[in-house]
Amino acid sequence: SSNSYEYIQVSQPKPGVGQVTLNRPKALNALCTPLINELNTALKAFNQSDDTTVIVLTGSQRAFAAGADIKEMAPLTFSEAYTKSFIESWSLLTTEIKKPIIAAVSGHALGGGCELAMMCDLIYCTEGANFGQPEIKLGTIPGAGGSQRLTRAIGKSKAMELILTGKSFTGSEAAQWGVAARAFPTYEALMEETLKTAETIAGYSRVAVNACKEVVNKSQDLPLREGVEFERRVFHSLFGSNDQKVGMKAFAEKKKPEWTHS
Ligand code: HXC
Repeated sequence: SSNSYEYIQVSQPKPGVGQVTLNRPKALNALCTPLINELNTALKAFNQSDDTTVIVLTGSQRAFAAGADIKEMAPLTFSEAYTKSFIESWSLLTTEIKKPIIAAVSGHALGGGCELAMMCDLIYCTEGANFGQPEIKLGTIPGAGGSQRLTRAIGKSKAMELILTGKSFTGSEAAQWGVAARAFPTYEALMEETLKTAETIAGYSRVAVNACKEVVNKSQDLPLREGVEFERRVFHSLFGSNDQKVGMKAFAEKKKPEWTHS
């Protein structure tokens, strides 16, 4: 339940939709290790749950997350970071969670906060959201995939400029450049539209939803030909699902499909 966590809240805002709200307001949701551990626990629980098809990850109006916890990182040595694989556990989001995760970003999404949003499967944000990779200002570099995901999203020259200068970009820019899928004028509109999209996805078969996520994300790792072959394999495999039969039969009968999620 939501009460068992210190740094996050979990909820089910709509049927089939699980929400994690980062809740460390005193530090603008700075992503300390205990927060990431709680996030991972909550995401794994939603991933296992038959009541969840899609996950929303959000922060507050003021901050999605202002980065990794600078106070925690300040005294860290190389050997500690290396032997404990500092930050590696953040990647659970991209490895173990098979259900799509929508990031709803308002306010600051800086450093590790920007990277956390980019690890999600799609980003919605406010037009005024404050994205950036300011690590250079702290004498370091992005460490949770920012140099790779931002560059894939917006191209090398623009990513290089942002990462070398540490300058922020707005939610409007994030949407124009394709980092975010859409930007909304207000926080209220952001949350409303995020839940609408989540509800739409939650109305489909979990088997097909997970497969969509898997094949789109493969495009980020594979050359085109291998990616297309992978997609075809997964497409073929869905003929082994019950919901492919349910969906196509319902179309022919002009009925609403009753998904079995199998
Ligand atoms: C620890 C943080 C924090 C952070 C904010 N706080 N960001 N604590 N780590 N990343 C704390 C502040 O210390 C302060 O605590 C409280 O949150 C409120 O912040 P203020 O600075 O007072 O708020 P404001 O003046 O509104 O400025 C907001 C801000 C600024 C522009 C977002 O806080 C800021 O620049 N934060 C750092 C952003 C950043 O550099 N992120 C990248 C981190 S490096 P007190 O106790 O003083 O009230 C990183 C590495 C990633 O993420 C690589 C691996 C993941």
